[in-house]
Amino acid sequence: MHLFRRPLLAVAESTLIENLVRRGGLSNGLVRRFVAGEDLDTALEAAAEIAKQGMTTTLDQLGENVTTINEARAAVSSYTTMLGRMAEAGVEPNISVKLTMLGLDLGDELAHTNMTPILDAARSVRGFVRIDMEGSSYAERTMRIFATLHDRFDETVGIVVQSYLHRAEGDIRAMIERGARVRLVKGAYAEPATVAFQSRREIDDNYVRLMELLLDRGRYPAIATHDPALIRSARGYVGRMHIPRDRFEFQMLYGVRRDAQADLTAAGFRMRVYVPYGSQWYPYFTRRIAERPANALFVIRQLVSG
Ligand code: FDA
Repeated sequence: MHLFRRPLLAVAESTLIENLVRRGGLSNGLVRRFVAGEDLDTALEAAAEIAKQGMTTTLDQLGENVTTINEARAAVSSYTTMLGRMAEAGVEPNISVKLTMLGLDLGDELAHTNMTPILDAARSVRGFVRIDMEGSSYAERTMRIFATLHDRFDETVGIVVQSYLHRAEGDIRAMIERGARVRLVKGAYAEPATVAFQSRREIDDNYVRLMELLLDRGRYPAIATHDPALIRSARGYVGRMHIPRDRFEFQMLYGVRRDAQADLTAAGFRMRVYVPYGSQWYPYFTRRIAERPANALFVIRQLVSG
C-alpha cells in the first residue's frame, strides 16, 4: 500500500476539506476525469462512446453508507430503473453496487432483501450485477450475503476480492469452488496490518498468485488493475497456459490509463470500463486521489489557489 494513502484518506474525511472540494463540484476538471457525470443519461452516453471503442462497461451509480431504510429503498428503485434504461438504450445491463448503499449498516437482512429486486430486474434483461467490496469490516458479511444470493441468482451476480487482505486466498478458493464470478483488485481502503498486507510487494505478489488461480480454475474472472507489471504478468500467463481470450476480461476505471485500455483492446483482449456517475461522488473521488501522488498534489494546489 502506498505510504501516503492512509493519511490522505483520513484528511479526506474532514468536513472542511469535503466542503472545499465539493465547492468546485463536477465542473472541477479532476472530478470530471474520474466521474462520467451527474445523471444516468450522461453515463449512458459515456457507455455508448466506450462501446464505439470496442470496450464494454459496468455502471456505478455512486453512493455508499446510507443511514435510513428510505434511502436504501430509493437506491433499489434507481438500480432497477437503471437496468431497464440500459437495456432500452442498447447498453449492456452490467452494473456495480455497494451493499452499504442498500442498507448494510442497518443490518444484513435489509441489504440482502434489497438486493433481490435488483437481481430479479437484472435477470429479466439478462444483465449482471457485481457487488463491490468495501472496507474490511464489511468483508465477512458481504461474502455471506453474496453466497446466499449466488445460490439463487447464479451467473447474474458476481463479487470482488481484494488482494491486500489476508483472507483473500480463502475467499478466492471458496469462489472457485462455487463457480462464482470474481473481480480481482488490490483494494482501495486504508486497512490495518492485522487484516491486510501493507507493502506493495506483498499485495502485488498475492495479486499474481490469486490471478493465476482464477485464470486456471475460476469462472470468467475480471483482472481489474492499471498496474503495468500485473498486466504484463497476466498476458504472459494466459499466453503460456494457452488460456483463450474469451475466458476472462481486464477491467479498468473510467478516466484511468486510457492508453492502456486502448492498447489491450487493440491487442484483442476484452476490456471493461467501470463508469461511475451521480452526485455522491466525494468518497469515490478521494479513493482515486489517494491512489496517485500526482493527483493529490493537483488537488492541494487547487485548494490553496482557489
Ligand atoms: P496501482 O495503484 O499500483 O496503480 C498502478 C498504476 O496505475 C499507477 O502507477 C498509475 O499509473 C495508474 N493509476 C492507478 N490508479 C490511478 C488513479 N487513481 N489515477 C491515475 N492513475 C492511476 N477496490 C476495492 O477496494 N473494491 C472494489 O470493489 C473495487 N472495484 C474496482 C473495479 C475496477 C474495475 C478497478 C480497476 C478497480 C477497483 N478497485 C476496487 C480499486 C482497486 O482496489 C485499486 O485501488 C485501484 O485499481 C488502484 O490499484 P491498481 O491495481 O490500478 O494499481
